[in-house]
Amino acid sequence: MKEILVKVSKPYKIYIDHGVIDKISDLVGVDRSRRFVVLTDKNVDSLYFETLAKALSKTKSDIFKFVIEPGEDSKSFDNLISLLEFMADKDINSKDVLIAFGGGVVGDLGGFAAAIYRRGIDYIQVPTTLLAQVDSSVGGKTAINLSRAKNMVGSFNQPRAVFCDRQFLHTLADDEFACGMGEVIKYGILFDRDLFLKLMDRGRLDENLEPIIARCISLKRDIVEEDEFDTGKRQLLNLGHSLAHSIEVISNHTIKHGKAVAIGIYTVALGCAKSGLLPSGDLELIKEVIQTHNLPFKLPYKLSDMMEIIRKDKKRRGDYINEILIRKIGDTYLEQFDFDGLEEFFKNGVSHA
Ligand SMILES: NC(=O)c1ccc[n+]([C@@H]2O[C@H](COP(=O)([O-])OP(=O)(O)OC[C@H]3O[C@@H](n4cnc5c(N)ncnc54)[C@H](O)[C@@H]3O)[C@@H](O)[C@H]2O)c1
Ligand SMILES: [Zn+2]
Repeated sequence: MKEILVKVSKPYKIYIDHGVIDKISDLVGVDRSRRFVVLTDKNVDSLYFETLAKALSKTKSDIFKFVIEPGEDSKSFDNLISLLEFMADKDINSKDVLIAFGGGVVGDLGGFAAAIYRRGIDYIQVPTTLLAQVDSSVGGKTAINLSRAKNMVGSFNQPRAVFCDRQFLHTLADDEFACGMGEVIKYGILFDRDLFLKLMDRGRLDENLEPIIARCISLKRDIVEEDEFDTGKRQLLNLGHSLAHSIEVISNHTIKHGKAVAIGIYTVALGCAKSGLLPSGDLELIKEVIQTHNLPFKLPYKLSDMMEIIRKDKKRRGDYINEILIRKIGDTYLEQFDFDGLEEFFKNGVSHA
């Protein structure tokens, strides 16, 4: 088993191993008076609730289950309120623990509910998608959506522990797996050329998957330790994300996050190559790795429509926006643009579907 310690305001460990969920009772050192609220979605519930319940049974603690519909729409105020009411009904108190058992949707909603219920209770992340394992379960960003924009209401709330168990990934749809790979590719381009090159060989992905997950987590850990509250370097993790968010919004979330990220990354890379920053060989590698993992790279909408969304984006800082540029694979930096300048830059990177 691999353990990664995250030294932030509330330090915690990430445990990575096939079957690590079976050790959850031992590793979080629960006492019997603690009770668990398991937040999950219908898919994960039917596939794996029994596995989690069995792992927790050693604690002999009460387990209460709250199940939401799968999908992005579940990161809603309605679900938040229902979950808080549910916890109050069960008289959950500050000694008890919420377990977010599912993908990023469950993790974001659960983390936020745990942040505000009784001014904060502990929560544990048990991510069951690749995207949640390599990205959303680590770093303590939690949020729900407003109708006009994603992640508009939330907080920084670090979990008490994270359990990354590869056994859950066996049942993940190919499309969801590909979306997780979108974020994995992001980590390679951002910080680690060797990691990136490992992703070129799809055939060997399965045997390499656990070390790849662990590498992404430790890269995110390093950034989060340096900039827990996202005021500086952590913004690098938004590589390709300003375009990605606009694609998600225009598509009404029919284009999933990981796919939108792949398109965003390629468009930025093409813009960097056209302005002479990124070597053309690296651009080709980026395109190849995106295609290898069945991810799209061409812009599906008009750039001007996407820019309209970006101008309203929450990352807007006054009249400027930070975009992440690629010098070469593994070497990236933040650059400030005004919106017209950003549109010009992206124009270089437009390759339409
Ligand atoms: N907090 C952060 O730092 C952060 C970072 C990146 C993304 N996010 C958020 O994460 C969310 C996306 O997360 P996601 O991609 O995990 O989506 P998701 O939670 O919607 O899960 C995707 C689908 O996979 C299903 N599923 C989950 N685990 C499964 C399993 N083991 N086997 C079979 N099916 C399974 C789910 O039921 C769902 O239908 C977005 O809301 C995004 O905003 C947050
Ligand atoms: Zn992302």
